[in-house]
Order: sequence, then C-alpha cells, then structure tokens
Amino acid sequence: MSFDLNKLLRPNIQSLTPYSSARDEFHGEAKIFLDANENSIGSPLLKWYNRYPDPHQQKIKEKLSKIKAVPPNQIFIGNGSDECIDILYRAFCIPGKDNVIICPPTYGMYEVSANINDVEIRKAPLLSDFQLDLVHMETLVDENTKLIWICSPNNPTGNSMNHEDIEAILNNFEGIVVVDEAYINFARQKSFISRLKEYPNLVILQTLSKAWGLAGLRLGMAFASEEIISIYNKIKPPYNISEAVQELVLNALDYTDDVNAMIRELVSERKRMEEELPQLKVVENLYPSDANFLLVKVIDAKAIYEYLLAKQIVVRDRSKVLLCKGCLRITVGTAKENDELLNALQNFVV
Ligand SMILES: Cc1ncc(COP(=O)(O)O)c(C=O)c1O
Repeated sequence: MSFDLNKLLRPNIQSLTPYSSARDEFHGEAKIFLDANENSIGSPLLKWYNRYPDPHQQKIKEKLSKIKAVPPNQIFIGNGSDECIDILYRAFCIPGKDNVIICPPTYGMYEVSANINDVEIRKAPLLSDFQLDLVHMETLVDENTKLIWICSPNNPTGNSMNHEDIEAILNNFEGIVVVDEAYINFARQKSFISRLKEYPNLVILQTLSKAWGLAGLRLGMAFASEEIISIYNKIKPPYNISEAVQELVLNALDYTDDVNAMIRELVSERKRMEEELPQLKVVENLYPSDANFLLVKVIDAKAIYEYLLAKQIVVRDRSKVLLCKGCLRITVGTAKENDELLNALQNFVV
C-alpha cells in the first residue's frame, strides 16, 4: 500500500494560504493590545471575554496529550466531532467527483456532511452480526474514493468492529480511514490511538460529549499524523473554540478520576439493563453493547415509543433504519431513570 497524502488532498487546499489571525501573528509579552479590533474597555459580564481565544487551544492540547499519550501536534480540536467530520470532506473530497464509503446503519452525520459537501456516498451495509463487510467495501473502492468511515463502537448498533477488519482496511486502502471512537470509553476494545505511528492514513475521532459528560460544551477531537493535523488547522475557522469553552474544558480535564467513576457506573447500569430488559415481555432481542446505549428489538417499536413518550420518557425510534427493524435505541440513564424505564416497559399492555 502506498500512501501519498499530497495526492489525496484537494488542489485548492494544497495551495490555500490560511487566514492569519492577530493572535497568530503576535507572540510574546505586550501591555497594550490594539491588534485585533477587540473592545478594549471590557465586557458586559463580571468576567471579561473581550479578547479572542487561543486559536490553537494549546493548553487544552497539552493536557489532552498527557491523557491520550499523543503529542499535541497530532491533536485537532473541533466544535464537536461534527466539525472534525466536515473538515475531512472539505480537505480531501472534490465535490461532484470524489466518493467516500460508509457502513450503515451508522452515525448519520457522515452522510449528511457528504451531502452538504456534494460528495458521493457509497454504502457497504454491515453484515447481520453488525460487523464490516470487507468484500463489499473492496468492490466499492475506486481511484476517487478518498475516505472510509468506521464507527467503533457503532451508533446505533452498539458493537465494536473487529480490530483485524479495521487493520485490513488500514493496510490496503490508499485513502484516509476514519475510526470514530465517540463511545470508546465504554468499550471492552482498546482505542486505535496507540496505533497512530503505524498508520499514516488513520484519523481517530473522539469527543467530550459522551463519557466526559460535556455534550453542551461542543468539543470534538481528531488524532492523526502531524501532516493531517496541519491540514485540519489550515481549514478550520480561526477561533473555532470559544474562550469560555476552553476555560471550562481545561478545568474539566483535571477530573479524570470522576469521569472514570461515571464510566464505571454507566457500564454497570448497562450490564444491569442487559440482564433485566430481556426478561420483559415486550423485548424480543437485545444486542450486546460496547457503548452507553442499547439497541433493543421490541414487539411494536412505534407503539412502545409513543407509550414511553406519554410517560415523558424519550428514547430513539430506530425501527426504520437498515438492519434495525423493530428496534429502539435506549441510552443508559441513571439507576433511577433506568428503573423508571424498566417499570414503564413492564407495565406495557401487550
Ligand atoms: C458516533 C458518533 N460520533 C460523533 C457524534 C457527535 O459527537 P459531538 O457531540 O462531538 O459532535 C455522535 C453523537 O451522537 C456519535 O454517535
């Protein structure tokens, strides 16, 4: 396999001169900042936010680097994973010409973002055990295939993909392989992060929205080679992560012990739900999960979805999604929330 990043890159991105912000151009100590057209007087808040934030989020990257064991220059921080996804399309896919491969059922934004960018989507549905169909995927690849999207653990099926399958793709595909690990902290499988050195074509996506409990702050991460990360930095809006978010995240990253405790609690609740749900009359099948949600086949998805809504419990109806016929996707809640859900399902009149 020969991997040539420059050949994959869109010519307009290759020749792009990125925006150079005031904060990019000045380094060092100063007393008076009159370079960025900020409001020098202050903010209408107790705490001032009148200055632009660090465009490179250096302090966050340094902390993340220690947590993830990846050098700061191999980390990109986006406004949610969704920004990390969109930038890959804009970097590598020529609209109306290039294509990408996804493996449905999977996270919806890979397809939506492709549509927004006018990039062709080719689909290799998962096999009936929700694993990758390598044979089908291979038949879809041509010289215009730039990205392959793999979600592991996968949303909405909950399972992790076989590592040997992902390795086979990384070893044979000359484009970029994106492994979206949004739910990796809940998984029995290891992250691919430790494999970055081996694979120049690997991009790993993670997020603070799940295990870290910070969905409201919008912070997604991409881990890749220094070269791929520098492409991300070339394309991103100059100040894509606000000062307030940077401060809050910097603080939150000190609390790994608390996050680990939440992960243990959610995994233990998942186990309890995996034991209790199949005992209910309404449940026909439950798929093993490596994430913080369960895909559950029920006797009548639409009726049960609406019944739960009437009790002010919202789950996700995935019954119309490929391979998920009759299924609800249920996020693992607190012990009390899970009890309420189990209780409601128990009382559904068949
Ligand atoms: C697989 C997967 N990736 C990414 C995301 C979005 O993450 P973020 O909140 O960082 O945009 C989700 C959200 O549900 C997801 O399921």
